[in-house]
Amino acid sequence: MQVKHVLDMAFGDSGKGKITDYLAAQPSTRGIVRYHGGNNAGHTVQNELGTFPLHLVPCGIFNIHADVFMTNGMVLNLEVLVNELDMLRRVLPDFTHRLYISPRAHVIMPYHTVLDGLYEAAKGKKKTGTTGRGIGPCHADKVSYHGIRVGDLENEEGFEELLSVQLEMKNKIIVALGGHALDFRVVRETILRYYAHLRPYVKEPFPRIQHLLRSSPFGGDLLLEGAHGLFLDTDWGTYPYVTASSIVPGYANAGAGIPVRHITNVLGVVKAYTTRVGSGPFPTELNDGVGAELRERGHEFGTTTGRSRRCGWLDLELLRFGSALCGVDELAITKLDVLDGFETLKICVGYARHGAQVMYEDAITEDLFEVEPIYIELPGWSASTRGVMRWKDLPPEAQRYLFFIHGFTRIPIHYVSTGPARHEIITVK
Ligand code: GDP
Ligand code: IMO
Ligand code: MG
Repeated sequence: MQVKHVLDMAFGDSGKGKITDYLAAQPSTRGIVRYHGGNNAGHTVQNELGTFPLHLVPCGIFNIHADVFMTNGMVLNLEVLVNELDMLRRVLPDFTHRLYISPRAHVIMPYHTVLDGLYEAAKGKKKTGTTGRGIGPCHADKVSYHGIRVGDLENEEGFEELLSVQLEMKNKIIVALGGHALDFRVVRETILRYYAHLRPYVKEPFPRIQHLLRSSPFGGDLLLEGAHGLFLDTDWGTYPYVTASSIVPGYANAGAGIPVRHITNVLGVVKAYTTRVGSGPFPTELNDGVGAELRERGHEFGTTTGRSRRCGWLDLELLRFGSALCGVDELAITKLDVLDGFETLKICVGYARHGAQVMYEDAITEDLFEVEPIYIELPGWSASTRGVMRWKDLPPEAQRYLFFIHGFTRIPIHYVSTGPARHEIITVK
């Protein structure tokens, strides 16, 4: 079995959902795994069944012959998950037998969401700009032994005990920060009601994943659908302007029980320009008409919160560092069509500060607010690349733009996405 990790190489929203959907639809795909994050993610898929914003369920669900795993590394908002499954049930045949939800995954409780908002308000100007989905507080509870896991909901009395201890503590913090205490009975009933809908899918994915991994090298493909951008990684991202997950492919071991040596390939997904949602440094950000044009043409508004995404030129310093960190083997460049019509295009090839070059790994987050991007300029193209499906149909300037990325990174570009729909893609031989 080949195991391919799909990895977003910037700050998220690179189109990894589209790429995962495309790859998952290949007949060789046997399984798709999501192993970190929660409904802070928003992955948009557009295929023959429609357009679907998925926050929790792996994008590969549309391959009705593949197994779909939501493993222990995820944090789950049960209400969002129930609604997402309802939406999918309307367009897909029964998937009970092929969807696995880990009983080890942690539950995002209503108090996590409330605390997320209160912490952000308390931080004022220094806020992270979270999605407000309770992600940080849920992970904090996980690592400080206060979490409640999906499997804990099976035993109602046990769950009640856990909840009463947690709610007592959490309500004190909530009230101290100016919020309203949550009612035990309401929380208990809400969580158990949603759990009842999910129970048929709750089964440990480990045995099935191990079975797939043990199949021969020709036994098909397993896809790991990375959520979030690498530079939102808690350790390697622009801390504290990050998310609470480990984004690096190595986390597949902890988050999904997949030994790292089984990962045969890391596919870096790179949007042809860069975007970021929330606070934090963004060296190539464009606070001018060009940034606004990228936002408009690329429909850069958050899939999860609807917030405007900050837009800027492609940042190859991030890609240089990120691909070394994660051992990226191949690239998918997405949203190339959004660059149609620009007279010239800039690409950042490094950072400078006080006249000296600054490498990402040597910079602390505060430095990154101050670095100046070093740009090269390339000619744009006027023809439309939207929906182009053959390399030779790309304008020569678009080919040159892609060659530049390849020349800089020395990583082969195997896919170029030219539109949101599954078929709007070039596979580069
Ligand atoms: P993800 O979080 O990385 O899966 O990305 P999002 O779904 O949050 O944001 C990417 C957006 O761009 C979605 O609306 C996609 O439908 C869309 N998209 C993906 N690939 C392309 C592409 O090649 N061209 C265009 N124009 N849109 C794309
Ligand atoms: P996908 O998977 C874009 C950002 C938030 C905020 C920071 C922390 O669609 O690429 P959190 O709610 O996680 O505590 O917020 O992380 N963030 C994302 N930005 N796309 C995402 O997911 C994100 N997931 C988290 O905007 O800056
Ligand atoms: Mg997204």
